[in-house]
Amino acid sequence: MNSPQITPEFEALLDYLKHERGCDLTGYKRATLMRRFEYRMQSLEIGSYQGYLQYLRSHSEEYLALLEVVLINVTSFFRDQETWDYLAAEVIPQIIASKQPDEPIRVWSAGCATGQEIYSLLILLAEAIGIESCVQRVQCYATDVDEAILAQARQATFSDLRITNVPSDWLQKYFQATEQGYVFHPSLRRTVVFGRHDLVKDAPMSRIDLLICRNVLIYFNLETQASLLVRFHFALKTTGFLFLGKSETLILDRKIFTPINLKHRIYAKGLNLELKDHLSLDFKLRQQENILTIQKHFWQTATETSPIAQFAVDAHDRLIGANEQANLLFGLTLDDWKHPFYELEPGKLIASHTSRKFNTYPYHSVVLKDVQRNTPQGTQYFEVTIAPVLNAKRQLLGITLAFLDQTNCKQLAQQLQWADAELERMSECLEATQSELEVAHQKMQLLDQARGLSRDEES
Ligand SMILES: C[S@@+](CC[C@H](N)C(=O)[O-])C[C@H]1O[C@@H](n2cnc3c(N)ncnc32)[C@H](O)[C@@H]1O
Repeated sequence: MNSPQITPEFEALLDYLKHERGCDLTGYKRATLMRRFEYRMQSLEIGSYQGYLQYLRSHSEEYLALLEVVLINVTSFFRDQETWDYLAAEVIPQIIASKQPDEPIRVWSAGCATGQEIYSLLILLAEAIGIESCVQRVQCYATDVDEAILAQARQATFSDLRITNVPSDWLQKYFQATEQGYVFHPSLRRTVVFGRHDLVKDAPMSRIDLLICRNVLIYFNLETQASLLVRFHFALKTTGFLFLGKSETLILDRKIFTPINLKHRIYAKGLNLELKDHLSLDFKLRQQENILTIQKHFWQTATETSPIAQFAVDAHDRLIGANEQANLLFGLTLDDWKHPFYELEPGKLIASHTSRKFNTYPYHSVVLKDVQRNTPQGTQYFEVTIAPVLNAKRQLLGITLAFLDQTNCKQLAQQLQWADAELERMSECLEATQSELEVAHQKMQLLDQARGLSRDEES
């Protein structure tokens, strides 16, 4: 354990922060935490934790000053250069190779501080697939528990001192020198969603190809580190990679991650999570009243990965969701999302089947049978269920469409029909042969009778 010096006064401080300021520091290493609190107390000339608690209660601005000291926000571009070189040479090409040319690449920088980490990664991705493709395909999440630091990260503007690690040709290509400092490439910047996210209590992102969490785990005690690693496993795709900080090691007794390169702290997903992991995740979140988030997350993942192609279309005919199977089946690109649904292939298929407008499906589901799609490989058949999505006031928000592939059933039904016809033909043949046999039999009988008569006459 990392808590050799637990004192009730210090725990009371942590309790106050957790319950009254919503900041849970109980999973951080106690010794480091105490040093940082004491640093703040010394600068305020406060001699006891009790005194500091009183000060915190009466000076609301002290909370942010404390956070700044506790959540060490040190970061830089291409921190540990060699590791980033390895990432560019070995990991990024693997991620790209595992995907279709238009498929999204999802990355998460957890504990991103002022953003240099995610911007470094975007430069490497842009070098690998080009800026335009990067803007189209890359979806970045950069999160941190510190709202103030995120505000700086969103600015994407860096002083001379902060860009010293950026090679000069990249500086020219990816930054614009302004009076305020070097501003990161605006289109690439827009691929990043920055958000406040507490790794300990908030539900993790999902379907991530590359999760970077560097120099963050190190602040947590072993138990919390283990629970964060379970969350990281949950967040990653099966083919995803985890990228930790130079001095961080995996402390798990089970191999839910396997090292790709230990020196550079890059891991792939290993053994699957066990039920107890899911339960522990669930239990912790339940404690923190976050169960709804994880349920939503689960539900979203279930829809995303459902084997039935599904779309969500709003009341203005805009496509607002398509799961993995739908994307795969119809090969949707990012560009398709800009068009009304009826202009996209699945929309046209429905329109060719029924003249009814999408937003006239008010209160019940409609099932369209035998919706045909002609492809170079042959005709596909779908049963499409169109269901309205209503809000609590029963107003129509949009519709969902589920495309159930019936091609195999259709083929089987056709084969069955052919087999039935063949059977009928054969039984007709059999009947004809039977009647022929009967006639022949009767003839034989008559012949036998005739022969018997002539023999009688002769005798
Ligand atoms: C030392 S910085 C690391 C920055 C960057 N990842 C790097 O390695 O250059 C640690 C960051 O972790 C963030 N952090 C600390 N606790 C966190 C938590 N519970 N959830 C999310 N971020 C946290 C801090 O706010 C800080 O910005």
